[in-house]
This record gives sequence, C-alpha cells and structure tokens, in this order.
Amino acid sequence: MIILGINAYHADSSAAILVDGKLLAATEEERFTRVKHWAGFPAQSILFCLKEAGITLNEVDHIAIGRDPKAKLMKKLMYLLKNPMGGFGTVMNRLQNSRKVSSLEKEFANITGVNEKIIKQKIHQVEHHRSHLASAFFASPFEEAALLSIDGSGDFTTTMIGIGKLNQFEVLDSVDFPVSVGSFYTAFTQLLGFPHYGDEYKVMGLAPLGEPKYVDKLRDVIHFTKNGLFNWNSKYFKSAKDVVVTYGDDHIPFVGTLYTPFMEEKFGKAREKGAELTQYHKDLAASVQRFTEELIFHIVNHLQKRTGLKNLCIAGGVAQNSVANGKILKNSEFENLYIPSAGHDAGISMGAAYYVYNQVLKQPRTQAIYSAYTGSIFNNDEIETYLQSRNISYTRYDDSELYDRVTNCLINSGVVGWFQGRAEFGPRALGARSILADPRRNDAKDLLNAKIKRRESFRPFAPSILREYVDEYFELNDNVPFMEKVFPIKKEKHSSIPAVTHVDGTGRLQSVDSKVSPRYYHLIDTFRQKTGIPVLLNTSFNENEPIVNTPGEALDCYLRTKMDMLVLENCVVQR
Ligand SMILES: [Fe+2]
Repeated sequence: MIILGINAYHADSSAAILVDGKLLAATEEERFTRVKHWAGFPAQSILFCLKEAGITLNEVDHIAIGRDPKAKLMKKLMYLLKNPMGGFGTVMNRLQNSRKVSSLEKEFANITGVNEKIIKQKIHQVEHHRSHLASAFFASPFEEAALLSIDGSGDFTTTMIGIGKLNQFEVLDSVDFPVSVGSFYTAFTQLLGFPHYGDEYKVMGLAPLGEPKYVDKLRDVIHFTKNGLFNWNSKYFKSAKDVVVTYGDDHIPFVGTLYTPFMEEKFGKAREKGAELTQYHKDLAASVQRFTEELIFHIVNHLQKRTGLKNLCIAGGVAQNSVANGKILKNSEFENLYIPSAGHDAGISMGAAYYVYNQVLKQPRTQAIYSAYTGSIFNNDEIETYLQSRNISYTRYDDSELYDRVTNCLINSGVVGWFQGRAEFGPRALGARSILADPRRNDAKDLLNAKIKRRESFRPFAPSILREYVDEYFELNDNVPFMEKVFPIKKEKHSSIPAVTHVDGTGRLQSVDSKVSPRYYHLIDTFRQKTGIPVLLNTSFNENEPIVNTPGEALDCYLRTKMDMLVLENCVVQR
C-alpha cells in the first residue's frame, strides 16, 4: 500500500511517501526552490517521492493532506461573529487557503498528468495537529504514549494533547486559536528585534547570556490553567487579523507584528533590528525561555497524571525548542521522550501519511524511525560527471583514505563541507549535509565566522558525538538522533570541546549511531582515534540559504566561502 503525504500552502511545505508503512522518502520543498520555509505547493518534493518509490501518481493508493478546512468550523464562525473586524482578515485568509486546498487536485493533475477525478478519490484531509501527533507517535518506538502537539497555530488549534495505543490515538483536549505558546514566544522574538519567520531559535541561543529576572512579570501574559493547559491576556497581543502568518506570491511566510503597545509599555520598546543587544534584552530572552519551559512542564506533568504513562511524544513548532526538550524528563515523571526529526510543520506530510496508514486504515505499526536520511542522494559516478562538467579538479579516494584525509584536514584547523548519502528531513544537518570543524579549538567560532557563516556571536555550534560516549561527556545519557535536545556537558569536559560548549555549559547534541549513520560514525571514530575526542563540530551545509541539496549547490557554497575541503561522497575537492 502506497501513501503520499503532503504539507501544502503552509510554511515548510513538504512531501513524504510510505510504502507498506515504511517511510521511503521525505523532503522539504525549500531544498528544491532554494527559498527558506517555502510555503506553496510541494510539486518538486512530490515528484521526488514518486521517483524514489519508482512509481507514478496512478499507483499511489491514498493522498494525505495535512490540513482540514472543516476542522473546528463552528468555532471559527463563532470567532468571526465575536471579532467582526479583528477576525475578518483571519477567516478570509483561511478561506482563501481552504480554496487552495480544494484546488489541490488541479495542482496534482498539472504536475503528474493524472485525471483530477481519480486524484480526488484518493485524497484524505487530516487536521493539522492530528498530523503532528501522528508524526511523533507512529514514528516512535512506543506501544503506548502520551502525546503533545504544540505550535503557533494550525487548523484553528494551537495545542493538542492525546493518548496513543498501538495503531490508534485519541485526542484528549486542545487549545483554540489564537491563544498560543508559539505566538507568545514569537511575540517576544519580535520585541527582541528578530522579525523573520523562524527566528525563535535566536532567542533560545541568547537566553543563556541573561538572568531570568522577569519570569514573574510574564505570569500576567500567559496564565496556566487547572486543566493542564493555558490561557493568555489578550491585552498583550494584537487582534488576529494581523497575527496570521501570510504567504505572498514569493511563498515566503510572513508574520505580522504580534505584540501590542501595551506589551511595549510593560516590557520596553521593541529593539530595532540590528541595534545593540543590552543586558535587559538578554535577561528578557532568558525569562521568556524559562517561562516557556515552565509552561511546557505544566502541560506535560498534567498529561502524565492524566494518562499515567511513562512515554511522551511531542511535535509542533514549539517542539523545536531543544533547550526545553532536554529538560522534560528531569522535570516530569515521564521516562522516555520521542520527537521526530521534522517536529515542525514539514513533518505534517509524514504525519498525515501515517495517520491515514495507522489510524484510518488500521494497519499495524511499523518500525520506529531513528534516521532522518530520506532526502536527495547522488552516487560517486554522478558526482564525478558533475565535477568534470564544471572543470573542477578532484580526487576520488577509497573509504579508509577518505576518513584519514578528512580528519587530518580538521585537525589542521580545516573547515570541511561533508556531503554524504541521503539528505536529512527536518531543520538539522545530521552528517549528510554538514559543515564540520574541530570541536577542541577555542577559536572555532571565529574560524567558522571568518571562513563561512557570519552569524550572531551568541549562537552556539553543535556537537555530533558517538552514541557510546554520550555518558562520558554529558550529564544525561539518552539517544538524541536529531539534535532535538540540549543537555548539560560535564564540567570536566568543557575545556576539551570548547567550540561546542555554549556559555551555560550545554550542548545541542546529535548522538551518532553506527547503524543509522555508518559513514558519519566512521569519520568521527577516525577523529577519535587520532585525538581521543569522539566529537565533531557540526553545522548545517549552507550560507544564508536552505541546506544544500545537490552536489552543484554544495560546490557553489564551497566556492563562495573559504571552506578548506569539499567532500562529495568519495570525491574530494581542495583549495
Ligand atoms: Fe504546526
């Protein structure tokens, strides 16, 4: 049975394909269009998934769309009646999007040539948060789990909790639009002078530089409720007509200003983009981060009591808060936590497909997913042909010489572009499309900023560590395949890996498993044999653009920057 899932006309548009419940391919459309968070119809991702499965759309049994315009329809209409001015723009915007959803058949027909009527029969609409929940639960290793989806908003919902057992889950409760943890975090991200869609991670990176002095002040903004959820004080937030994420003809998500003058009165004037970051800004970032963590603990602790379970699955944009994720097990009775590699909206395509497979068609659960490698792939011959076509000189090494040469380059202060196997699904580079450096260097940040990325000095670089050594370097020992959790690094190890130790002594780790990432594992292990350190600094292979997807994009990035070595499978290009 073949199911194609898509996230369309929404930020981080994507497609995923399941063959008999196995995730065969999944990718974000931004990797093809080269526009970050691209939000149109995922035409190229769909064609990629079909190609990888070796089929045409005719052979797809079901198409799962991660959006249901009918979800909470009555509530939407009530909202419109109550907020005739404020709500009008929102509802119009949503209706326009619904129309787009209804014209999906046309888009599918355009790119595949398959008759619209045939396509229509195959389509299932799966509500946004149920798609998030499915992406986490059905991909998890748990037979039973408590479930949380938490984001800005989707299908008039911003948070949903549930309980999953085998191939079914049940929704327990939800929070209606516009009251939202995601929007709360985004409002302060904007107030702190980071206006772009997806800038929230900058506040998370800034937080350790401040003191959480204003947590109590934030209790007036969001109220924890007795049912384990929350409400907000609407004085702080603009009416919904301005807060909806909109997409122009360029398909770039744009979020209007969320905070009101009242928010500025209470928390200070918004920082101009690029203006100095004062201690107040750092303290506010620390407070927002700390408060968000408390709110998440409040939700999951109630969920734990309500379900009595030890396993938790989380997805949604707020599940990208790896700092909060890393603290959940310590601050709750949950013993295990699973978050998918694409916990944000790109994961909607995969989640909708699993929802149809397990929940609707009642198929049995399939293997848990610990690999994010479901994207583009190029073999050595294709790469050689490409490099020759560009007149680039290169050497093709066998595996053992390759690992030896790359690690020598890293040890000699080199910065290496590492392009291997299938690209990652999700926002993190996990050793398939990564830029690597020596984590032992005190000056690695300056080195990377000088050679490749000019980014804010407060933002940390992340460690990839061999799975067997997590316990030796980190205060918590867990499987972290997708860099989805931040853990404290043991004090005695701070000085051996300074480049990946954040100011507060933490690291956003990827635990590298030899079965999941054999080549990346081998590279790090070769570095370990030479240096005694089982860790590499890993940052995404890009430069102010989506992560590179093809050898051509990798080569262009290499040529644009001062990277020392480019590794495309076994082919090495050097300056
Ligand atoms: Fe979402």
